[in-house]
Amino acid sequence: MRHLIDFGDLSRQEWDELYARASGIMDDQGKYLDTCRGKVMASLFYEPSTRTNFSFQTAMLRLGGTVFGFADPSSSSAAKGESLKDTIKMVSGYADVVVMRTPWEGAAKAASLYSNVPVVNAGDGGHMHPTQTTADLTTMTRLLGGVDGLAVGLCGDLKNGRTVHSLIKAMAKFENIRFFLISPRELAVPGYMRAFMRENDMRFTEVTGLEAVIPQLDVLYMTRIQRERFVDPLEYERNKGIYVLTRRKLERAKEKMLVMHPLPRVDEIAVDVDDDPRAAYFQQARYGMFARMALLADLANQPRLERTEAVEIGRAPVCRNPRCITQTEDYLPPLVKKTGGVECCAFCDAALE
Ligand code: NCD
Repeated sequence: MRHLIDFGDLSRQEWDELYARASGIMDDQGKYLDTCRGKVMASLFYEPSTRTNFSFQTAMLRLGGTVFGFADPSSSSAAKGESLKDTIKMVSGYADVVVMRTPWEGAAKAASLYSNVPVVNAGDGGHMHPTQTTADLTTMTRLLGGVDGLAVGLCGDLKNGRTVHSLIKAMAKFENIRFFLISPRELAVPGYMRAFMRENDMRFTEVTGLEAVIPQLDVLYMTRIQRERFVDPLEYERNKGIYVLTRRKLERAKEKMLVMHPLPRVDEIAVDVDDDPRAAYFQQARYGMFARMALLADLANQPRLERTEAVEIGRAPVCRNPRCITQTEDYLPPLVKKTGGVECCAFCDAALE
């Protein structure tokens, strides 16, 4: 693995190795104090973040490395009209690894074409968030002993929730997973995710009600309705507050079921659930830091490329997703891939009509 853009970039074996390293770090942090000594991480956050940004920064600092970057794009040259390509060319000359979060889908993939050092996708719009998935899988493995065979309920905004998309992609690498996709119809998973699950023979059931399926679950993964992604504010108003997990609803859940959430929480988990032994979300955030340490230990120590491969110059975007990076960065090549037999944009996964 050279970059982490999509969880599909990792093989099952690479994940097992990453988890083993994260476990090793948790068990003996002292052994890793110098793993990234002298290495520098660039952290480019074009979109608000607390957890992910802090988690990456503390991960790098705990490995003995250092960090620079911005958490507010208005303080970067993007505000002067600099292209993503030029920003990445420049930053990848200064840093050993680049971590980036953007509101544009496919932006990390675009950056990886021009970067001399590994790029990590810390969230690209409503598309993917693979390092949250490293936190999620670490939590399941540590607390439930493994991931194979789990029945997982994904609840909330499955259309715009990038953590959900990455988690589904990752779970295709495990055996005998059963998904319950719990969302209002208008916030169901995007077509490319459904095509992906079918292509990978994954078992999934789409439902609108939470309570009826709770007793069957080993993991209940709650998500926030992603207000910032709604084009129509009325659609948000219709859906906000639609699922609220309470102590009473948990009464019918398995005794060992995990309640997970990538956080931040708005109102989808009542505060009285926090003290239930099944509530794993704060622990999950801490595991995320160790998983990111394991990732950075590998990526920040990779040799830098003196030259990146030549990239074809695009003329017109082939993708019509208005949130795709190809809409704003017009030099990007028209990369296409196939999912479930359908041609899709290789940046944002949207089907090409
Ligand atoms: C998530 C994200 O940014 O997608 N947060 C996170 O990284 N922990 C989930 C969210 O914002 O709802």
